Amino acid sequence: MSIEELNDFFQHKSPEEVLRYFIREYKGQIALSSSLGVEDQALTDIIQKIDPSTRIFTLDTGRLFPETYSLIDKTNMRYGIQLEVMFPDYRELEKLVSRDGINLFYNSIEQRKACCYVRKIEPLKRAFNGLKVWICGLRREQSVTRNNIQLVEWDEANGLIKLNPLINFTEQQVWEYIRANSVPYNILHDQGFPSIGCQPCTRAIKPGEDIRSGRWWWENPEQKECGLHKR
Ligand code: ADX
Ligand code: SF4
Repeated sequence: MSIEELNDFFQHKSPEEVLRYFIREYKGQIALSSSLGVEDQALTDIIQKIDPSTRIFTLDTGRLFPETYSLIDKTNMRYGIQLEVMFPDYRELEKLVSRDGINLFYNSIEQRKACCYVRKIEPLKRAFNGLKVWICGLRREQSVTRNNIQLVEWDEANGLIKLNPLINFTEQQVWEYIRANSVPYNILHDQGFPSIGCQPCTRAIKPGEDIRSGRWWWENPEQKECGLHKR
């Protein structure tokens, strides 16, 4: 089936049905990239119920919250798995930090993106080795930069299929899944953090504020992508 046909075929199907199909079709060549955020925890739970041998990896930027590291452990224990943890290339990181400083992200958008490149994008590209399908937890309603994403996309830059099974879920639906299935989640979500990234680039928000407004809060909404989800 073409990308267009796959989107048509799966448009009214549940995330479970979508994942069951892709995990069967692409066994050994499909992986979830998990930030340990609530969407990715729901996807992890669904995937564990379909095929526990499916790869799940996380990009440890070295600047994550302690609560996120605790959740890696908790998730591993809950499902009896080992999430793959990808680290940045230490040479590139040492070069960047010695040139621009340890907290370079606050200096300019260019320096913030350079940090995201070394800490996330380069390790992500290594994690793609042998992959044909990349599963992500993107949802359409998350931000202005995401409202025209598709369930199944051809990721030209990385040469693979990108799958967003929760594309049409609301935040409430994600939480309903988490509660109904007792899925472990980041305790920061209970402290005003709906979207959690690196500690220096994420802050709590007030009720009613946009869910991504705590991410890179000093930048415009149109620029708030780290390059992981280039379009
Ligand atoms: S980000 O691009 O702004 O950081 P966001 O936190 O909304 O992204 O997460 C969107 C999706 O990107 C997640 O569902 C996950 O698939 C992927 N992702 C984001 N951060 C990471 C990470 N540190 N490790 C692995 N995947 C990640
Ligand atoms: Fe660096 Fe912040 Fe990007 Fe994390 S989110 S990689 S700390 S700029």
